Amino acid sequence: MARAIRFDEYGDVEVLRVEDVPRPAPGPGQVLVEVRAAGINPGEAAIRQGFLHERFPATFPSGQGSDFAGVVAELGDGVEEIAVGDEVIGFVHTRSSHAEYVVAEASDLTPKPDDVPWEVAGALFVAGTTAYAATAAVCPREGDTVVVSGAAGGVGSLAVQLALLSGATVIGLAGPANHAWLHELGVIPVAYGEGVLDRIKEAAPDGVHAFVDTFGSGYVELALHLGIHPGRINTVIDFEAAAKYNVKTDGNMAGASAEVLRELSLLVGKGLLEVPIAGVYPLADVRDAYRELEQRHTRGKIVLRP
Ligand SMILES: NC(=O)c1ccc[n+]([C@@H]2O[C@H](COP(=O)([O-])OP(=O)(O)OC[C@H]3O[C@@H](n4cnc5c(N)ncnc54)[C@H](OP(=O)(O)O)[C@@H]3O)[C@@H](O)[C@H]2O)c1
Repeated sequence: MARAIRFDEYGDVEVLRVEDVPRPAPGPGQVLVEVRAAGINPGEAAIRQGFLHERFPATFPSGQGSDFAGVVAELGDGVEEIAVGDEVIGFVHTRSSHAEYVVAEASDLTPKPDDVPWEVAGALFVAGTTAYAATAAVCPREGDTVVVSGAAGGVGSLAVQLALLSGATVIGLAGPANHAWLHELGVIPVAYGEGVLDRIKEAAPDGVHAFVDTFGSGYVELALHLGIHPGRINTVIDFEAAAKYNVKTDGNMAGASAEVLRELSLLVGKGLLEVPIAGVYPLADVRDAYRELEQRHTRGKIVLRP
């Protein structure tokens, strides 16, 4: 048997529980991984609360989780390029990584570089690939000024750094508690809330060229008010505004691949990409982990350690 997160109905964190389930077995082309760390994401909370029932319905009992890093425990038929004992970073689309063991496609794994800590490796998939795709969608380059909303969140904290790596000047919208951290990275911190448009204009007297929205709630309209071309605005959350104004929506699905995960993990290993870890919780404290996440003020990622 192996422990895994389960829930039997839509609801708040109280519906989450740890259950002993049969240890899963890898099929052809698959690998069983003993999970060492698995990131949690707001999308999982939204699915569990039933908010995404139309687009991503749950079937009960439901498992949870896409991100993970761990040690290969068993190989399915036909898997040759991976060995038992390998340390890997990976992903699943089967809502099953918040568990002691997860079965993944061998093609959805990449080696974990030695110098990437487990918590960071396990947190990389959803936020990292989303930040990668969302940032690439607005084509940042030297001479550009790019604004990122939710600049210290799981996705935003990585998007600001990827935009910086492209050579652009980056303005990060964040609460005051995150300004010193953003400043240290080389990001120009700007407080969100009343007057944010004027503060951005003040911080970017020569104009803003691109916008990566990771928070929603009016930032697409704000970007248009800044005079940014819709083709250089990307939101990962405000799909209504995206459809209305024809802005981009590249996110996890656009970036979800072992190649992108590998590229991100190498950047982390070289010290070029910092993944801030806001909290680490044992599997048994999964409810507390989501309570913290659902405050929507974490810097970086929250991770479960089975
Ligand atoms: N489309 C996709 O593929 C995709 C993939 C991943 C995530 N998402 C979505 O993207 C969003 C971000 O995900 P995440 O993991 O980065 O979430 P997160 O880590 O919970 O983001 C929290 C951040 O939001 C910031 N924030 C709170 N109020 C704000 C406001 N009024 N204006 C600007 N920022 C504010 C907080 O900043 P302070 O702490 O500084 O206040 C905090 O750093 C979520 O809605 C998620 O569902 C979409």
